[in-house]
Parts: sequence; structure tokens; C-alpha cells
Amino acid sequence: KKKGDFSGRKFLITAGPTREAIDPVRYLTNRSSGRMGYALAAAAVARGAEVLLISGPVALERPRGVEVYPVQSAEEMYQSVMSLKDKADIIIMCAAVADYTPVTCAEHKMKKQERLRIDLTRTKDILAELGKDKQAFLAGFAAETQNLEGYAKDKLSRKNLDMIIANDVSGPETGFDSEYNAVSIYTEKGAAVHLEKDTKRNLADRILTEIAKNI
Ligand code: PMT
Repeated sequence: KKKGDFSGRKFLITAGPTREAIDPVRYLTNRSSGRMGYALAAAAVARGAEVLLISGPVALERPRGVEVYPVQSAEEMYQSVMSLKDKADIIIMCAAVADYTPVTCAEHKMKKQERLRIDLTRTKDILAELGKDKQAFLAGFAAETQNLEGYAKDKLSRKNLDMIIANDVSGPETGFDSEYNAVSIYTEKGAAVHLEKDTKRNLADRILTEIAKNI
């Protein structure tokens, strides 16, 4: 069962990194390219779903048939997710949201100094917030470099998720900024599903098939 199996369903998917401004010309970010989230969006549309895609800054073409909401910072992503969440019956948080943001953004370009300290503060955990008052099927990602299963299952239960998709991001061939990925999928009840290295587009279809089994 595949083609059209998500018709009538509405997805909210997040993708890409966020940018946390330090001053008017500098920011903190991470290596997310957006590919995994965009692949999920394209796969869901191909299977008949309506897709809202909240995207951090990426260099990818908009997938056809997807409504894209561009954002920059973690705070903007939080606001965008909160304003759209009630429209969706399946939410997938694939974005690599910054965990920290500068306490203040300098008004002017900072001048060079011998040493520079930037005070950082925690951003809001969007996924945990969604889990508190859960209306939709909620899937998160976990990017880990060690203890994949342990950390992923911890996020699954702590954030009240229906599914966690764990990717090992320790190697250069999968995870961030690659055409490929390899993931393990955990749910509260079902057995773990391990998906070997494949293109993100193929994995997206396999992830959706696991979601279909669990809704
Ligand atoms: O974009 P690509 O180059 O294709 O790479 C794909 C990917 C590696 C970015 C993707 O597959 C992935 O793993 N995304 C999640 C990255 C991440 O931030 O993982 P985490 O373990 O730090 O966060 C756990 C979950 O909480 C994620 O669903 C994340 O979206 C969410 N989160 C994190 C921080 C925050 N402030 N709010 C959140 O909602």
C-alpha cells in the first residue's frame, strides 16, 4: 500500500537549520541542509497528503505541491509551528533547531577584540511543547553521535512522542548534509525498525510507511 495512502491527511514538517543572530552580519547555526525534511515533504505529497513545510534557511528547491513557510531563528520556528500545528494530523520535527541562542543580538557589527565571549541562553524545545498538549501524531528525530538507542528512547518518552527516528550523525556519509541517511525507528510499543543506508528520498518513503502502520 503506497500511492495515495495519505490522501486526506495533513502533515506539518520542519526542516533545515536555524540561524541565531550574534550581530547584523553574524550568526550561529549547524550543518543541516534540509534534505531529510524536504524528502519527507516530497514523499508525503506524492502519497496524496497536504504538506505544510516550515523551513530554516536552506539551498534547496521547494518541493512541488508543498506549502513552504520560511523561518530563520529557533524562536521564529517555534512561532510558526505553534500557529500551524492545529491544522495538521501528523507532525514531523526534522529541523535541527538550535539549542542555544545569543542572549542579545548586537545592534552594530561587533569590532574585533582579542577575546570574545558570547552569552548563550536555551531556546524553547518545540518538540517537547508539542508533546505537552498532543493533538496530532507526533514524530521527532534524534541526531546522536553515541548511545543512539538509549538517547532516542529517552526523547521518545520524555517528550511524549509517538515515534522517534534516530540517526547516527557521527560519520560523514549519513546524517547532516549528505544525500544519504540511515535511521532506526522507535515507538512506544512496536519493535525497533532499522533502515540501512539509502538515499534520503527512499528513506522518507520507508519512514512514512512506518508512520502509516502506527496511526
Ligand atoms: O538536514 P539534513 O542535512 O538532511 O540532515 C538531517 C538531520 C540530521 C538534520 C535530521 O535527520 C535530524 O536528525 N534532525 C533533528 C536534528 C536535531 O536537532 O536533533 P536533536 O536530537 O538535537 O533534537 C531532537 C528533536 O527535538 C528533533 O526532532 C528536533 O527537531 C527537536 N528540537 C530540538 C531542539 C529544539 N529547541 N526544539 C526542537 O523541537
